Amino acid sequence: MTEKFQLYKCEICGNLVEVLIAGAGELVCCGQPMNLLTAHTEEEIKGESHLPFMFHNEEGKELVRIGEKIHPMIPEHYIQFIKLISENGKISVTKFFEPEEVPEISLNEDFGDYIARENCNIHGLWSKVIKHE
Ligand SMILES: [Fe+2]
Repeated sequence: MTEKFQLYKCEICGNLVEVLIAGAGELVCCGQPMNLLTAHTEEEIKGESHLPFMFHNEEGKELVRIGEKIHPMIPEHYIQFIKLISENGKISVTKFFEPEEVPEISLNEDFGDYIARENCNIHGLWSKVIKHE
């Protein structure tokens, strides 16, 4: 049984798929079951910054960047996407990145509290819950 917003990866071809509506079946790619990805939730790599970092710009707009110290964005090592999911699971938004771009997304809707997650092409999936006081 899958769950909404789970990510599954094929270790053979690299397909990465997201569940939008959960079902009972097993996800299979290249003839074998896909692996459910589990997000890292704490910085674990020295000198790297992977956790989503929320801040407000000069105009007071809320943004999420990877990370507090910006993650590398070179062709060999970069952030592939950032996804924000509102706490109630009703709104989600994904922004994809190419090398050399700034791994940053702004909030155009009031998400309330939300989960921010990102995928690094080398170090995988990371997530952080963003709560407003
Ligand atoms: Fe990385």
